[in-house]
Amino acid sequence: MAKPDQMERVVNLAKRRGLVFPSSEIYGGFRSTWDYGPLGVLLKRNVKDAWWRSMVQMRDDIVGLDSAILMAPRVWEASGHVATFTDPLVDCRKCNERFRADQLPDSGACPNCGAKDSFTEARQFNLMFKTFVGPVEDDASVAYLRPETAQGIFVNFSNVQTTARKKPPFGIAQIGKSFRNEITPGNFVYRTREFEQMEMEYFVPPEDGDQWFEYWCQERLGWYTDLGIPAEQLRLRPHETDELSHYSTGTADVEFMYPWGWGELEGIANRTDYDLTQHTKFSGQDLSYFDQENDRRYVPHVIEPAAGADRATLAFLLAAYDEEEVPDAKGGTDKRTLLRLDPRLAPIKVAVLPLSKNEQLVPLAGEIADALRAHFMIDVDVAGSIGKRYRRQDEVGTPLCVTIDFDSLDDRAVTVRDRDTMEQERIAIPDLLPLLHERLG
Ligand code: GAP
Repeated sequence: MAKPDQMERVVNLAKRRGLVFPSSEIYGGFRSTWDYGPLGVLLKRNVKDAWWRSMVQMRDDIVGLDSAILMAPRVWEASGHVATFTDPLVDCRKCNERFRADQLPDSGACPNCGAKDSFTEARQFNLMFKTFVGPVEDDASVAYLRPETAQGIFVNFSNVQTTARKKPPFGIAQIGKSFRNEITPGNFVYRTREFEQMEMEYFVPPEDGDQWFEYWCQERLGWYTDLGIPAEQLRLRPHETDELSHYSTGTADVEFMYPWGWGELEGIANRTDYDLTQHTKFSGQDLSYFDQENDRRYVPHVIEPAAGADRATLAFLLAAYDEEEVPDAKGGTDKRTLLRLDPRLAPIKVAVLPLSKNEQLVPLAGEIADALRAHFMIDVDVAGSIGKRYRRQDEVGTPLCVTIDFDSLDDRAVTVRDRDTMEQERIAIPDLLPLLHERLG
């Protein structure tokens, strides 16, 4: 179970070890935006790769897409985002802070200054970022940064269906940036204004919608447990009718037990034929599908598992974070911090550590590193005591360390140390690569 100060510890670790930095930090930061550092970019990429692998590579019914962030403004009229993608916003008349009306405390007091009954009437605030395309800033050149990647998939439905020669049930998957002018971003990378989504739209015959909705709920829950999040830190929560998005007849959230309580990790929605029908109306292009086998034409219904790469990365970090007492070299105990990340997600898979900076050990470590780097993301660390170097690797979740010592010069063998058990075994150098492949999958 997550501890209340777990978030602070993970944020500190993220900063200290180059996982995630506050964006524009030398200018004092910029409104809840974050930059992924050298290890963070690897971790998040591994999360996205694991999603792509399970969604696209391992299946023959789903294909990929990378559509543009800027799209014709009519797309957002058709999708309903111009009219309804809003949050109710109130201002505190005393301190001028803004809040979402639906997130105010029951006490009625301003969460910032404590003033009572100080809020303005709620007004609807559209979350889409507006910009202008071309040199003239007038109404005709307004465009929006996409608030979801899904619409790029819907407008390409016919292009993809015909070129990939797919028949429903089939899906289109996409990973990419989305933008929402959130009123209350926060909780580190949980809610930000710029974030990455991993969305898949699964097109099915209308009568099969409910069955596929159930299927994708279970499938997606299984993806998180398979990658190491304990089942008791996850749950599926069906939406109440008043929570449903404008397009959905049924939605369930995959929720994670964050340090502040249960929160959304991914949404799985039955979007029915809403989007394809709307785009048919607004574009004048027929987006129905002709089922030759059954001689019928229909507008496919869509089941959408929509995940966030940043939220998933945060959940994997929180679930992996651990601290434990371990024996130290002097017969006492020491505290170690570790990320028990699944090897598929770990930023660095293998650390290569010569026992010292000795002029014979370093070249041998270099040789081993060169042989490994084509296969795995590795790190070579020569600075500090071997104990400190193990701790540094534990802290960023490196599953295996390979230590080259003075015996290695004679017996052509190295020590492989396991992050979780701290057990060490001696392996002949020619056997090292197959062993690492076996352990790392
Ligand atoms: N196409 C459907 C859709 O966008 P959503 O529930 O609004 O559904 C899907 O978003 C996922 O995208 C969320 O479950 C979350 O993981 C991620 N997400 C949404 N808004 C976010 C934000 N402001 N910051 C970080 N991630 C966000």
